[in-house]
Amino acid sequence: MSNLVNPTEKTLDELGVTQPDQVSALFASVRARFDQDSASAKTDSSSKEFRDAWLGRKSGILTGVADNWLKPAKPELKRVVGQELNSLKAHVQEIIARLEAELSSAAEESGPGLGVDLSLPGAMRPVGSHHLIRQVFQEIEDIFASIGFSVVEGPEIESPYYNFEALNIPEHHPVRDDMDTFYIDLPAGASPLLLRTHTSPVQIRTMEKRQPPVRVIVPGKVYRRDNPDATHSYMFHQIEGLAVDTDITFCDFTGTIEYFIKQFFGPGVKTRFRPSYFPFTEPSVEFDMSCIFCGGSGANSSGSTCSKCKGAGWIELFGAGMVDPAVYGFVNYDPRKVSGFAFGIGIDRLAMMKYEIDDIQVLFQNDVRFLRQFP
Ligand code: FA5
Repeated sequence: MSNLVNPTEKTLDELGVTQPDQVSALFASVRARFDQDSASAKTDSSSKEFRDAWLGRKSGILTGVADNWLKPAKPELKRVVGQELNSLKAHVQEIIARLEAELSSAAEESGPGLGVDLSLPGAMRPVGSHHLIRQVFQEIEDIFASIGFSVVEGPEIESPYYNFEALNIPEHHPVRDDMDTFYIDLPAGASPLLLRTHTSPVQIRTMEKRQPPVRVIVPGKVYRRDNPDATHSYMFHQIEGLAVDTDITFCDFTGTIEYFIKQFFGPGVKTRFRPSYFPFTEPSVEFDMSCIFCGGSGANSSGSTCSKCKGAGWIELFGAGMVDPAVYGFVNYDPRKVSGFAFGIGIDRLAMMKYEIDDIQVLFQNDVRFLRQFP
């Protein structure tokens, strides 16, 4: 339509159209022009131009017809102009849709040979990897799986019953202070919930569901209101271990732990058991490893106190012990018939020891320069 004087820029009055048959003749001429122009819109760019020329919302020809012919039309012509416009519009839309479909199937048929070079390298997307903590979890799970333990999981949001009471930690027991934690803000009257402070509640959940023999490990996240420093984080990871059967002794316990540590760190590692206290194990121990940062001396190269072990020469890796008979009472096991051991390993500290990471915080800062060192 661009080569001609465009009648759609004028009103019907200006074009001298006063009768319905003149209206029909005028629409027929526009339609004929459309059919003629559509024959030359055979490429992608010309078909887009063609669509814009006819259907463009601001200055397309059909908009011109609506604005200049229909809106100002005399009442006696309104009906016929409206009908003719609808029929022209349907025709234009159908032909343009057909044209575009033909063009896109022609492009598909002509295939990649036209314009696409298959020998060019593809878009390279960087491949991610497991986070170091996930890798360490996997390594530990493999070691324990090789000696008959299976993996179970439990909720990170716990009730005080599972996190404390069923582990023989009654409400006003001072040990709760060590594990002061985040409580969930709930409506008044709702039963309290908290972010679990250790993976030990899953001991209870497991024993409630299974009868001995039980041999499980429980990997997961735990939370405490601890101030961040080189070895403390408010969110960290533990693997709980629990073995209960009819004849498990303290020797089975130490043998299992030593087997695990030797598999994980290699045979030369220096470790110690140290007496400790947990309300849910009796006797209880802490398992320490000689500080790799100061060589166990407690002082760094400049002679000042080692910030990692705080001068102790040892870094605590986990707490453990023989399951306290009181705990069996909460899960309906008979303490006269069964015995067992449990442990809760701090995974982040274990990873720090193995990979000589001197600050626990870097594990959670998502700095790819750090993460890439553990592909
Ligand atoms: C416990 O959490 C006991 N549930 C462990 C246990 C399980 C004992 C079964 C007996 C039987 P403890 O509070 O010591 O124990 O924490 C266990 C380990 O988690 C610590 O040895 C340490 O390695 C790690 N840990 C504790 N607090 C933090 C922290 N804030 N940041 C990083 N690691 C921590």
